[in-house]
Amino acid sequence: MKDLTPRPADLDPIEIASRDEIAALQLERLKWSLNHAYANVPHYKAAFDAAGVHPDDLTSLADLSKFPFTVKQDLRDNYPFNMFAVPRDKLRRVHASSGTTGQPTVVGYTEHDLQVWGSVVARSLRAAGMRPGDMLHNAYGYGLFTGGLGIHLGADALGVSTVPVSGGMTERQVRLIRDFQPKGITVTPSYALSILDEYAAQGLDPRDSSLEVGVFGAEPWTNAMRREIEEAFDMHAVDIYGLSEVMGPGVSMECVETKDGLHIWEDHFYPEIINPETGAPVADGEEGELVFTSLTKEAFPIIRYRTRDLTRLMPGTARSMRRMEKVTGRSDDMIILRGVNVFPTQIEEQLIAVHGLAPHFQIVLTRPDRLDEMRVVVEAAEGFSANESRVHAAAELMTRIKRNVGVSVKVDVTDPGSVARSQGKAVRIIDERNTKPS
Ligand code: DLL
Repeated sequence: MKDLTPRPADLDPIEIASRDEIAALQLERLKWSLNHAYANVPHYKAAFDAAGVHPDDLTSLADLSKFPFTVKQDLRDNYPFNMFAVPRDKLRRVHASSGTTGQPTVVGYTEHDLQVWGSVVARSLRAAGMRPGDMLHNAYGYGLFTGGLGIHLGADALGVSTVPVSGGMTERQVRLIRDFQPKGITVTPSYALSILDEYAAQGLDPRDSSLEVGVFGAEPWTNAMRREIEEAFDMHAVDIYGLSEVMGPGVSMECVETKDGLHIWEDHFYPEIINPETGAPVADGEEGELVFTSLTKEAFPIIRYRTRDLTRLMPGTARSMRRMEKVTGRSDDMIILRGVNVFPTQIEEQLIAVHGLAPHFQIVLTRPDRLDEMRVVVEAAEGFSANESRVHAAAELMTRIKRNVGVSVKVDVTDPGSVARSQGKAVRIIDERNTKPS
C-alpha cells in the first residue's frame, strides 16, 4: 500500500492548533450556538426555560452539561421544519432520514452550512490521502440520505473529481472502477463486500484495481473487516463517521497515517460522552453514549443531541483534535441475550476469523419457548460447498462466539449469495421475537 500521508502544509491550521486555541474557539462558538438556538427555535427556548437555564449561564465548556438533551423524538415532534432557526428562503438544502420506521427526520442547511460541510468533508478526504486532481468513485447513495451528496460536496471543495455513481448496479460499479481508474472509493463497508464479490464473479483480481484508499462509514464495522478489505483490494481502508442530525458524513474521520480512531472536527462539532442510563457526562477515556452540539450551524443548530452511538473519547494523535474510538454499535442495536449484551460487530469480528465463511451475515432473533434465541445466518465462502466443511465452520463459529462473546448461538451456514445484500447500510438484525406463530 502506498504512503498517502498528507503534507502538514496542506492541513487546515486548526487541525494542528494547540488545545488552548481549540478550546477558546469552541467556547466562543458554543455561546453563539446556544444563543442562536434559544432565540430562533421555539423548541430550544421551551426546553431551556423548562430546565431553568439560559445561554448566558454558559461561561465554560463544562457548563454545557446544564443544558437539556435533544433526542430523535424532538425532531419528529417538530416535523418537518419547526427545528429550523432560519426563514425558509435562507435554506439551500434539505435532507431527511428515509422514514421507513415512522416519521422521517428532516434537517436543513444554509449556504454557509453547505460551505462548512464541504470543508469538513474535504478535510476528511484529505486525511484519507486524497489530493486535488485525484478521482473519487462515490458509491454512497445520492438522495435524501446525506452520504452521496455530502461526500460530493467535500470532493468539490478539495478539488477532487467525483464519479457520482451512487449505490446499486454492482456490475457497473466494477466496470467503472476498471475503466476510470479512480484513486479512492467512498462506500459503506457492507456494500464494498458486494463489490468485492462482483470482482470474483467477473474473474477479476481486485488487487489489480487502481484503488489506493477506501473511505468507509455510515454503519459500524470492525478492525477485522478493515484487514479483510485492505488485504482483498491492496488499499488503505479508513473510517468516516457522521449523522444527518449533526451534519452528515465528515463529523469525524480517521487519518490514513495512523488508523487509530476518528478525529472529531471539534471546531464545528462539540462532543461529550455520557452514561446512557443516567445522562451524566463521563471523563475522556470512558465508554458511553456520544452526544454532539453544533458550534457553527445556522439552519439547524443542534444542542446536546443523543446519538445512541457507543464509543469513547481519546486525545489527538495525527491531529490535535480529540479522537473517538470506532463506534462498536448503537445502544438500540444492542441485543440483550439471556442477560449478555451483544452487538452485531462482535459477531462480525468472530466470523471473519473462521476459514470457509464469507463476511455476509444476519442475526435472527426468535423466542420459541419464551426464551430468546439467536441464530447467525452466514454464507459459506466460494468453494466451501461440501456439507462437511460447512458443519465444521459452523461449529467453529459457535465455539468462538461462546468463548469470546459469552453467548450460545445457533449458526446456519448458507449458500454463497443467499444473505440479502445491502446497497447502502446493511440490515444485520432480524427480530422475529414478537411475531406470533400462525
Ligand atoms: O450515515 C452519514 C454518513 C454517510 C456517515 C456516509 C459516513 C458515511 P445517518 O443516515 O443519519 O447518516 O446515520 C447516522 O449511522 O448515528 C451511526 O449509528 C451510523 N454511522 C455513521 N457512520 C458510522 C461509522 C450517515 N463510521 C448513523 N461507524 C450514526 C459506525 C456509523 N456507525
